[in-house]
Amino acid sequence: MDLFRRKSVSTLLKQREEGVGGIPLRRDLSAFDLTFLGIGAIIGTGIFVLTGKGALTAGPGLVLSFIIAGIACALSAFAYAEFASMVPISGSVYTYTYVTLGEFLAWVIGWDLMLEYMLAVSTVSGGWSGYFQSFLSGFGIELPKALTGAFDTAQGTYFNLPAFLIVMIITFLLSIGVRESKWVNNIMVWLKLAVVVLVVLVGVAYVKPDNWTPFMPFGFSGVWAAASVVFFAYLGFDAVSSAAEETRNPGKDLPRGILWSLGICTIFYIIVTLIVTGAMPFTNFKGQAAPVSYVMKFVGQDWVAGIIDLGVVIGMMTVMLVMLYGQIRIGFAMSRDGLLPKFFSTVHPKYQTPYKATWIYGIACGLLGAIFPLDKLAELVNLGTLAAFVLISIAVIVLRFTQPNLERKFRCPGIPSKPGLAIFSIPTLAVIFCLFLMFGLPLETWIRFLVWWVIGIVIYFLYSRRKSHLNQSSE
Ligand code: ALA
Repeated sequence: MDLFRRKSVSTLLKQREEGVGGIPLRRDLSAFDLTFLGIGAIIGTGIFVLTGKGALTAGPGLVLSFIIAGIACALSAFAYAEFASMVPISGSVYTYTYVTLGEFLAWVIGWDLMLEYMLAVSTVSGGWSGYFQSFLSGFGIELPKALTGAFDTAQGTYFNLPAFLIVMIITFLLSIGVRESKWVNNIMVWLKLAVVVLVVLVGVAYVKPDNWTPFMPFGFSGVWAAASVVFFAYLGFDAVSSAAEETRNPGKDLPRGILWSLGICTIFYIIVTLIVTGAMPFTNFKGQAAPVSYVMKFVGQDWVAGIIDLGVVIGMMTVMLVMLYGQIRIGFAMSRDGLLPKFFSTVHPKYQTPYKATWIYGIACGLLGAIFPLDKLAELVNLGTLAAFVLISIAVIVLRFTQPNLERKFRCPGIPSKPGLAIFSIPTLAVIFCLFLMFGLPLETWIRFLVWWVIGIVIYFLYSRRKSHLNQSSE
Protein backbone atom coordinates (compact mmCIF):
# COMPACT_ATOMS: atom_id res chain seq x y z
CA MET A 1 0.00 0.00 0.00
CA ASP A 2 3.00 2.31 0.07
CA LEU A 3 1.93 3.46 -3.38
CA PHE A 4 -0.66 5.53 -1.55
CA ARG A 5 1.58 6.85 1.22
CA ARG A 6 0.94 10.54 1.62
CA LYS A 7 2.87 13.54 2.79
CA SER A 8 1.25 15.56 5.53
CA VAL A 9 0.56 19.24 5.07
CA SER A 10 2.45 20.02 8.28
CA THR A 11 5.60 18.35 6.90
CA LEU A 12 5.22 20.45 3.78
CA LEU A 13 4.97 23.66 5.72
CA LYS A 14 8.00 22.70 7.79
CA GLN A 15 9.99 22.05 4.61
CA ARG A 16 8.97 25.48 3.38
CA GLU A 17 10.49 27.04 6.49
CA GLU A 18 13.68 24.99 6.30
CA GLY A 19 14.43 25.06 2.59
CA VAL A 20 17.15 22.68 1.44
CA GLY A 21 20.44 22.46 3.30
CA GLY A 22 19.33 25.40 5.41
CA ILE A 23 18.95 27.69 2.39
CA PRO A 24 15.27 28.55 1.81
CA LEU A 25 14.16 29.97 -1.52
CA ARG A 26 13.84 33.73 -1.47
CA ARG A 27 10.27 34.80 -0.66
CA ASP A 28 9.40 38.10 -2.29
CA LEU A 29 6.52 37.70 -4.79
CA SER A 30 3.18 39.56 -4.33
CA ALA A 31 -0.29 39.00 -5.93
CA PHE A 32 0.56 41.62 -8.54
CA ASP A 33 3.87 39.89 -9.31
CA LEU A 34 2.06 36.56 -9.61
CA THR A 35 -0.55 38.00 -11.98
CA PHE A 36 2.32 39.30 -14.07
CA LEU A 37 4.05 35.96 -13.83
CA GLY A 38 0.78 34.41 -15.08
CA ILE A 39 0.25 36.82 -17.98
CA GLY A 40 3.91 36.44 -18.83
CA ALA A 41 3.43 32.70 -19.16
CA ILE A 42 0.04 32.81 -20.87
CA ILE A 43 0.21 35.24 -23.82
CA GLY A 44 2.60 33.75 -26.35
CA THR A 45 2.75 31.20 -29.11
CA GLY A 46 -0.89 30.21 -28.63
CA ILE A 47 -2.41 33.54 -29.64
CA PHE A 48 0.42 34.75 -31.89
CA VAL A 49 1.15 31.52 -33.81
CA LEU A 50 -1.41 28.76 -33.24
CA THR A 51 -4.23 31.17 -34.09
CA GLY A 52 -3.23 30.71 -37.73
CA LYS A 53 -3.46 26.94 -37.57
CA GLY A 54 -6.65 27.17 -35.54
CA ALA A 55 -8.29 29.48 -38.08
CA LEU A 56 -7.52 27.03 -40.88
CA THR A 57 -9.14 24.24 -38.86
CA ALA A 58 -12.18 26.08 -37.51
CA GLY A 59 -12.67 29.09 -39.80
CA PRO A 60 -14.01 32.26 -38.12
CA GLY A 61 -15.65 29.94 -35.57
CA LEU A 62 -12.19 29.92 -33.99
CA VAL A 63 -13.55 32.38 -31.47
CA LEU A 64 -15.79 29.57 -30.20
CA SER A 65 -12.73 27.31 -29.92
CA PHE A 66 -11.06 29.92 -27.73
CA ILE A 67 -14.19 30.23 -25.61
CA ILE A 68 -14.49 26.45 -25.10
CA ALA A 69 -10.80 26.09 -24.21
CA GLY A 70 -11.06 29.13 -21.94
CA ILE A 71 -14.02 27.61 -20.08
CA ALA A 72 -12.07 24.36 -19.54
CA CYS A 73 -9.20 26.37 -18.07
CA ALA A 74 -11.39 28.62 -15.94
CA LEU A 75 -13.18 25.64 -14.42
CA SER A 76 -9.86 23.91 -13.72
CA ALA A 77 -8.35 27.15 -12.39
CA PHE A 78 -10.80 27.17 -9.49
CA ALA A 79 -9.53 23.78 -8.40
CA TYR A 80 -5.94 24.93 -8.80
CA ALA A 81 -6.66 28.02 -6.75
CA GLU A 82 -8.18 26.03 -3.90
CA PHE A 83 -5.20 23.69 -3.72
CA ALA A 84 -2.72 26.51 -4.05
CA SER A 85 -4.33 28.32 -1.13
CA MET A 86 -4.10 25.18 1.00
CA VAL A 87 -0.69 23.74 0.18
CA PRO A 88 1.53 26.78 -0.35
CA ILE A 89 4.76 25.09 -1.28
CA SER A 90 6.90 24.54 -4.33
CA GLY A 91 5.80 21.83 -6.70
CA SER A 92 2.35 22.85 -7.88
CA VAL A 93 -0.17 20.16 -8.58
CA TYR A 94 2.48 17.50 -7.98
CA THR A 95 2.70 18.46 -4.33
CA TYR A 96 -1.06 18.73 -3.92
CA THR A 97 -1.49 15.25 -5.28
CA TYR A 98 1.16 13.93 -2.89
CA VAL A 99 -0.91 15.22 0.00
CA THR A 100 -4.26 14.04 -1.28
CA LEU A 101 -3.93 10.98 -3.46
CA GLY A 102 -0.57 9.56 -2.44
CA GLU A 103 2.92 9.12 -3.82
CA PHE A 104 2.32 7.09 -6.93
CA LEU A 105 -0.23 9.43 -8.44
CA ALA A 106 1.94 12.36 -7.37
CA TRP A 107 4.80 10.88 -9.33
CA VAL A 108 2.58 10.29 -12.34
CA ILE A 109 1.41 13.85 -12.30
CA GLY A 110 4.87 15.29 -11.66
CA TRP A 111 6.14 13.34 -14.62
CA ASP A 112 3.20 14.59 -16.64
CA LEU A 113 3.95 18.19 -15.67
CA MET A 114 7.50 17.82 -16.92
CA LEU A 115 6.02 17.02 -20.28
CA GLU A 116 3.87 20.14 -20.06
CA TYR A 117 6.49 22.62 -18.95
CA MET A 118 9.51 21.37 -20.84
CA LEU A 119 7.75 20.89 -24.13
CA ALA A 120 5.91 24.18 -23.70
CA VAL A 121 9.28 25.93 -23.53
CA SER A 122 10.34 24.04 -26.66
CA THR A 123 7.08 24.85 -28.49
CA VAL A 124 7.33 28.53 -27.70
CA SER A 125 10.96 28.66 -28.77
CA GLY A 126 9.80 27.46 -32.21
CA GLY A 127 7.11 30.18 -32.31
CA TRP A 128 9.62 32.79 -31.18
CA SER A 129 12.00 31.78 -33.93
CA GLY A 130 9.25 32.35 -36.54
CA TYR A 131 8.65 35.94 -35.40
CA PHE A 132 12.36 36.59 -34.97
CA GLN A 133 13.00 35.56 -38.55
CA SER A 134 10.03 37.61 -39.74
CA PHE A 135 11.53 40.61 -37.91
CA LEU A 136 14.97 40.05 -39.46
CA SER A 137 13.49 39.68 -42.93
CA GLY A 138 12.13 43.23 -42.56
CA PHE A 139 15.80 44.29 -42.72
CA GLY A 140 16.57 41.90 -45.56
CA ILE A 141 18.46 39.49 -43.31
CA GLU A 142 17.99 35.77 -44.00
CA LEU A 143 19.59 33.02 -41.91
CA PRO A 144 21.03 29.90 -43.61
CA LYS A 145 17.97 27.77 -44.41
CA ALA A 146 19.28 24.64 -42.69
CA LEU A 147 19.31 26.45 -39.35
CA THR A 148 15.86 28.05 -39.52
CA GLY A 149 13.47 25.22 -38.68
CA ALA A 150 12.85 21.86 -37.04
CA PHE A 151 14.39 18.71 -38.53
CA ASP A 152 12.62 18.25 -41.88
CA THR A 153 14.66 17.02 -44.82
CA ALA A 154 11.83 17.81 -47.27
CA GLN A 155 12.02 21.50 -46.29
CA GLY A 156 15.81 21.47 -46.12
CA THR A 157 15.78 22.47 -42.44
CA TYR A 158 17.76 20.58 -39.79
CA PHE A 159 18.12 22.59 -36.61
CA ASN A 160 16.24 25.65 -35.40
CA LEU A 161 19.23 27.64 -34.19
CA PRO A 162 17.38 30.82 -33.06
CA ALA A 163 15.01 28.62 -31.02
CA PHE A 164 17.92 26.90 -29.30
CA LEU A 165 19.81 30.10 -28.57
CA ILE A 166 16.85 31.89 -27.03
CA VAL A 167 16.30 29.02 -24.60
CA MET A 168 19.95 29.28 -23.57
CA ILE A 169 19.51 33.00 -22.82
CA ILE A 170 16.40 32.29 -20.72
CA THR A 171 18.23 29.53 -18.86
CA PHE A 172 21.00 31.93 -18.00
CA LEU A 173 18.54 34.51 -16.62
CA LEU A 174 16.89 31.92 -14.42
CA SER A 175 20.16 30.53 -13.18
CA ILE A 176 21.08 33.91 -11.70
CA GLY A 177 17.89 34.34 -9.66
CA VAL A 178 14.22 35.19 -9.28
CA ARG A 179 14.62 38.88 -8.59
CA GLU A 180 16.43 39.54 -11.83
CA SER A 181 14.02 37.35 -13.77
CA LYS A 182 10.99 39.06 -12.24
CA TRP A 183 12.25 42.48 -13.23
CA VAL A 184 12.86 41.36 -16.80
CA ASN A 185 9.51 39.58 -16.81
CA ASN A 186 7.54 42.68 -15.78
CA ILE A 187 8.94 44.85 -18.54
CA MET A 188 8.28 42.19 -21.14
CA VAL A 189 4.70 41.69 -19.97
CA TRP A 190 3.93 45.40 -20.40
CA LEU A 191 5.37 45.26 -23.86
CA LYS A 192 3.30 42.21 -24.77
CA LEU A 193 0.11 43.81 -23.54
CA ALA A 194 0.95 46.88 -25.61
CA VAL A 195 1.32 44.69 -28.71
CA VAL A 196 -2.07 43.09 -28.10
CA VAL A 197 -3.71 46.49 -27.66
CA LEU A 198 -2.04 47.70 -30.86
CA VAL A 199 -3.43 44.73 -32.81
CA VAL A 200 -6.89 45.53 -31.48
CA LEU A 201 -6.79 49.28 -32.09
CA VAL A 202 -5.37 49.05 -35.62
CA GLY A 203 -7.16 45.86 -36.65
CA VAL A 204 -10.65 46.93 -35.65
CA ALA A 205 -10.79 49.49 -38.48
CA TYR A 206 -10.32 46.71 -41.07
CA VAL A 207 -12.88 44.22 -39.82
CA LYS A 208 -15.36 43.22 -42.52
CA PRO A 209 -18.26 41.17 -41.12
CA ASP A 210 -18.37 39.31 -44.47
CA ASN A 211 -15.16 37.55 -43.43
CA TRP A 212 -17.07 35.94 -40.57
CA THR A 213 -19.39 34.04 -42.89
CA PRO A 214 -19.64 31.14 -43.20
CA PHE A 215 -18.89 31.10 -39.49
CA MET A 216 -18.14 27.38 -39.18
CA PRO A 217 -17.04 26.22 -42.65
CA PHE A 218 -15.86 22.86 -41.25
CA GLY A 219 -18.75 22.36 -38.86
CA PHE A 220 -18.47 21.91 -35.14
CA SER A 221 -15.82 19.22 -35.52
CA GLY A 222 -13.45 21.88 -36.90
CA VAL A 223 -14.19 24.12 -33.92
CA TRP A 224 -13.59 21.18 -31.57
CA ALA A 225 -10.25 20.19 -33.12
CA ALA A 226 -9.10 23.81 -33.07
CA ALA A 227 -10.14 24.15 -29.40
CA SER A 228 -7.89 21.21 -28.53
CA VAL A 229 -4.97 22.98 -30.19
CA VAL A 230 -5.51 26.60 -29.10
CA PHE A 231 -5.94 25.37 -25.53
CA PHE A 232 -2.18 25.85 -25.54
CA ALA A 233 -2.78 29.61 -25.56
CA TYR A 234 -4.11 29.49 -22.00
CA LEU A 235 -1.35 27.46 -20.44
CA GLY A 236 0.76 29.25 -17.93
CA PHE A 237 -1.77 30.20 -15.27
CA ASP A 238 -0.98 26.97 -13.49
CA ALA A 239 2.72 27.89 -13.45
CA VAL A 240 1.75 30.61 -10.99
CA SER A 241 1.01 27.97 -8.39
CA SER A 242 4.48 26.51 -8.73
CA ALA A 243 5.87 29.78 -7.37
CA ALA A 244 4.13 29.23 -4.03
CA GLU A 245 7.33 28.80 -2.12
CA GLU A 246 8.60 32.20 -3.16
CA THR A 247 5.35 34.04 -2.43
CA ARG A 248 4.94 36.41 0.50
CA ASN A 249 1.34 35.53 1.33
CA PRO A 250 0.51 32.38 -0.64
CA GLY A 251 -2.93 31.77 0.89
CA LYS A 252 -4.42 34.90 -0.64
CA ASP A 253 -2.07 35.88 -3.39
CA LEU A 254 -1.86 32.60 -5.30
CA PRO A 255 -5.59 32.29 -6.06
CA ARG A 256 -5.66 35.96 -7.04
CA GLY A 257 -2.67 35.62 -9.32
CA ILE A 258 -4.13 32.55 -11.03
CA LEU A 259 -7.63 33.87 -11.57
CA TRP A 260 -6.71 37.43 -12.53
CA SER A 261 -4.13 36.40 -15.10
CA LEU A 262 -6.45 33.88 -16.70
CA GLY A 263 -9.38 36.32 -16.82
CA ILE A 264 -7.38 39.15 -18.39
CA CYS A 265 -5.92 36.89 -21.08
CA THR A 266 -9.26 35.30 -21.96
CA ILE A 267 -10.81 38.68 -22.71
CA PHE A 268 -7.87 39.66 -24.91
CA TYR A 269 -7.98 36.37 -26.82
CA ILE A 270 -11.63 36.69 -27.70
CA ILE A 271 -11.15 40.23 -28.99
CA VAL A 272 -7.96 39.44 -30.94
CA THR A 273 -9.48 36.34 -32.55
CA LEU A 274 -12.55 38.27 -33.69
CA ILE A 275 -10.34 40.96 -35.17
CA VAL A 276 -7.86 38.77 -37.04
CA THR A 277 -10.56 36.56 -38.51
CA GLY A 278 -12.62 39.66 -39.37
CA ALA A 279 -9.81 41.62 -41.00
CA MET A 280 -8.64 38.84 -43.36
CA PRO A 281 -10.33 35.81 -44.99
CA PHE A 282 -9.16 32.88 -42.86
CA THR A 283 -7.78 30.90 -45.83
CA ASN A 284 -4.92 33.42 -46.07
CA PHE A 285 -3.42 32.05 -42.84
CA LYS A 286 -2.02 29.10 -44.77
CA GLY A 287 1.75 28.69 -44.36
CA GLN A 288 2.17 31.77 -42.12
CA ALA A 289 4.69 31.39 -39.29
CA ALA A 290 3.86 34.85 -37.91
CA PRO A 291 0.09 35.00 -38.56
CA VAL A 292 -0.88 38.01 -36.45
CA SER A 293 1.69 40.31 -37.99
CA TYR A 294 0.75 38.88 -41.38
CA VAL A 295 -2.81 40.15 -40.91
CA MET A 296 -1.36 43.65 -40.50
CA LYS A 297 0.66 43.26 -43.68
CA PHE A 298 -2.47 42.03 -45.44
CA VAL A 299 -4.37 45.20 -44.56
CA GLY A 300 -1.41 47.33 -45.66
CA GLN A 301 -0.10 48.25 -42.20
CA ASP A 302 3.47 47.12 -42.69
CA TRP A 303 4.91 49.35 -40.00
CA VAL A 304 2.46 47.93 -37.47
CA ALA A 305 3.49 44.41 -38.56
CA GLY A 306 7.13 45.29 -37.89
CA ILE A 307 6.32 46.61 -34.42
CA ILE A 308 4.31 43.48 -33.67
CA ASP A 309 7.20 41.26 -34.77
CA LEU A 310 9.54 43.08 -32.42
CA GLY A 311 7.05 43.12 -29.53
CA VAL A 312 6.29 39.42 -29.90
CA VAL A 313 9.98 38.54 -30.10
CA ILE A 314 10.62 40.31 -26.82
CA GLY A 315 7.31 39.42 -25.16
CA MET A 316 7.38 35.71 -25.88
CA MET A 317 10.54 35.35 -23.86
CA THR A 318 8.49 35.67 -20.70
CA VAL A 319 6.50 32.55 -21.61
CA MET A 320 9.67 30.51 -21.78
CA LEU A 321 10.94 32.17 -18.62
CA VAL A 322 7.91 31.26 -16.54
CA MET A 323 7.47 27.79 -18.01
CA LEU A 324 11.08 26.87 -17.41
CA TYR A 325 10.78 28.35 -13.94
CA GLY A 326 7.76 26.08 -13.28
CA GLN A 327 9.67 23.04 -14.49
CA ILE A 328 12.66 23.79 -12.30
CA ARG A 329 10.46 24.18 -9.24
CA ILE A 330 8.58 20.96 -9.82
CA GLY A 331 11.82 19.07 -10.33
CA PHE A 332 13.07 20.78 -7.15
CA ALA A 333 10.12 19.50 -5.15
CA MET A 334 10.36 15.99 -6.56
CA SER A 335 14.05 15.85 -5.82
CA ARG A 336 13.55 17.15 -2.28
CA ASP A 337 11.10 14.30 -1.72
CA GLY A 338 13.70 11.83 -2.94
CA LEU A 339 11.82 10.90 -6.12
CA LEU A 340 14.47 12.50 -8.35
CA PRO A 341 18.25 12.55 -7.70
CA LYS A 342 19.51 15.08 -5.19
CA PHE A 343 21.32 17.41 -7.55
CA PHE A 344 17.96 18.57 -8.96
CA SER A 345 17.43 20.43 -5.69
CA THR A 346 20.95 21.67 -4.95
CA VAL A 347 20.65 25.41 -4.32
CA HIS A 348 23.40 27.82 -5.32
CA PRO A 349 24.73 29.52 -2.17
CA LYS A 350 24.94 32.96 -3.76
CA TYR A 351 22.04 33.07 -6.24
CA GLN A 352 19.73 30.86 -4.18
CA THR A 353 18.52 29.04 -7.28
CA PRO A 354 18.64 25.34 -8.19
CA TYR A 355 21.28 26.16 -10.77
CA LYS A 356 22.35 22.65 -11.84
CA ALA A 357 18.79 21.60 -12.58
CA THR A 358 18.19 24.88 -14.40
CA TRP A 359 20.94 24.14 -16.93
CA ILE A 360 19.95 20.50 -17.38
CA TYR A 361 16.34 21.36 -18.19
CA GLY A 362 17.32 24.37 -20.27
CA ILE A 363 19.60 22.39 -22.55
CA ALA A 364 17.01 19.61 -22.92
CA CYS A 365 14.22 22.11 -23.80
CA GLY A 366 16.48 23.93 -26.23
CA LEU A 367 17.38 20.78 -28.13
CA LEU A 368 13.79 19.51 -28.30
CA GLY A 369 12.53 22.85 -29.62
CA ALA A 370 15.29 23.03 -32.21
CA ILE A 371 14.54 19.56 -33.60
CA PHE A 372 10.79 18.87 -33.35
CA PRO A 373 7.94 20.76 -35.11
CA LEU A 374 6.01 23.28 -33.05
CA ASP A 375 2.47 22.02 -33.62
CA LYS A 376 3.29 18.41 -32.71
CA LEU A 377 4.99 19.59 -29.53
CA ALA A 378 1.97 21.76 -28.67
CA GLU A 379 -0.47 18.87 -29.06
CA LEU A 380 1.55 16.73 -26.70
CA VAL A 381 1.77 19.56 -24.19
CA ASN A 382 -1.99 20.00 -24.33
CA LEU A 383 -2.72 16.34 -23.75
CA GLY A 384 -0.35 16.17 -20.78
CA THR A 385 -1.78 19.32 -19.27
CA LEU A 386 -5.39 18.30 -19.75
CA ALA A 387 -4.63 15.02 -18.02
CA ALA A 388 -3.17 16.99 -15.10
CA PHE A 389 -6.27 19.20 -14.97
CA VAL A 390 -8.51 16.14 -14.82
CA LEU A 391 -6.52 14.75 -11.90
CA ILE A 392 -6.43 18.00 -9.97
CA SER A 393 -10.17 18.54 -10.39
CA ILE A 394 -10.88 15.07 -9.03
CA ALA A 395 -8.41 15.64 -6.22
CA VAL A 396 -10.06 18.86 -5.05
CA ILE A 397 -13.35 17.02 -4.55
CA VAL A 398 -11.71 14.03 -2.85
CA LEU A 399 -9.88 16.28 -0.41
CA ARG A 400 -13.03 18.15 0.58
CA PHE A 401 -14.37 14.91 2.00
CA THR A 402 -11.22 13.15 3.18
CA GLN A 403 -9.64 16.19 4.86
CA PRO A 404 -12.54 18.59 5.45
CA ASN A 405 -10.86 20.48 8.28
CA LEU A 406 -7.80 21.70 6.41
CA GLU A 407 -7.73 25.47 6.21
CA ARG A 408 -8.73 26.65 2.75
CA LYS A 409 -8.11 30.32 2.20
CA PHE A 410 -9.83 30.00 -1.16
CA ARG A 411 -12.73 27.60 -1.73
CA CYS A 412 -13.65 26.45 -5.20
CA PRO A 413 -17.32 27.42 -5.58
CA GLY A 414 -20.00 24.88 -6.44
CA ILE A 415 -18.91 21.77 -4.54
CA PRO A 416 -21.96 20.40 -2.66
CA SER A 417 -21.29 19.39 0.93
CA LYS A 418 -22.80 15.91 0.52
CA PRO A 419 -20.40 13.42 -1.12
CA GLY A 420 -23.22 11.89 -3.16
CA LEU A 421 -23.96 15.24 -4.81
CA ALA A 422 -20.33 16.13 -5.51
CA ILE A 423 -20.76 14.71 -8.98
CA PHE A 424 -22.67 17.93 -9.78
CA SER A 425 -19.88 20.37 -9.16
CA ILE A 426 -17.58 22.82 -10.91
CA PRO A 427 -14.58 20.44 -10.83
CA THR A 428 -16.76 17.72 -12.38
CA LEU A 429 -17.62 20.11 -15.19
CA ALA A 430 -13.91 20.83 -15.53
CA VAL A 431 -13.25 17.10 -15.95
CA ILE A 432 -15.92 16.88 -18.65
CA PHE A 433 -14.54 19.85 -20.58
CA CYS A 434 -10.97 18.62 -20.30
CA LEU A 435 -11.85 15.10 -21.48
CA PHE A 436 -13.73 16.65 -24.38
CA LEU A 437 -10.62 18.55 -25.44
CA MET A 438 -8.39 15.51 -24.91
CA PHE A 439 -10.50 13.49 -27.32
CA GLY A 440 -10.18 16.27 -29.90
CA LEU A 441 -6.46 15.44 -30.26
CA PRO A 442 -5.09 12.97 -32.81
CA LEU A 443 -4.31 9.33 -32.01
CA GLU A 444 -0.56 9.76 -32.65
CA THR A 445 -0.43 12.36 -29.87
CA TRP A 446 -2.13 9.92 -27.51
CA ILE A 447 0.42 7.25 -28.37
CA ARG A 448 3.35 9.58 -27.66
CA PHE A 449 1.72 10.59 -24.41
CA LEU A 450 1.24 6.98 -23.32
CA VAL A 451 4.88 6.16 -24.14
CA TRP A 452 6.07 9.04 -21.95
CA TRP A 453 3.75 7.86 -19.21
CA VAL A 454 5.03 4.26 -19.34
CA ILE A 455 8.66 5.45 -19.14
CA GLY A 456 7.71 7.44 -16.05
CA ILE A 457 6.10 4.47 -14.35
CA VAL A 458 9.15 2.31 -15.00
CA ILE A 459 11.43 4.94 -13.44
CA TYR A 460 9.12 5.15 -10.45
CA PHE A 461 9.28 1.45 -9.71
CA LEU A 462 13.01 1.10 -10.42
CA TYR A 463 14.21 4.24 -8.65
CA SER A 464 11.84 6.73 -7.05
CA ARG A 465 9.80 4.35 -4.94
CA ARG A 466 12.90 3.09 -3.13
CA LYS A 467 14.60 6.46 -2.83
CA SER A 468 11.52 8.29 -1.62
CA HIS A 469 12.08 10.02 1.70
CA LEU A 470 8.76 8.68 2.86
CA ASN A 471 10.11 5.18 2.22
CA GLN A 472 13.28 5.89 4.13
CA SER A 473 11.51 7.48 7.08
CA SER A 474 9.22 4.43 7.45
CA GLU A 475 12.10 1.96 7.58
N1 ALA B 1 0.12 29.95 -23.25
C1 ALA B 1 1.46 29.96 -23.65
C2 ALA B 1 1.58 30.34 -25.08
O1 ALA B 1 0.61 30.59 -25.74
C3 ALA B 1 2.12 28.67 -23.38
O2 ALA B 1 2.63 30.45 -25.60
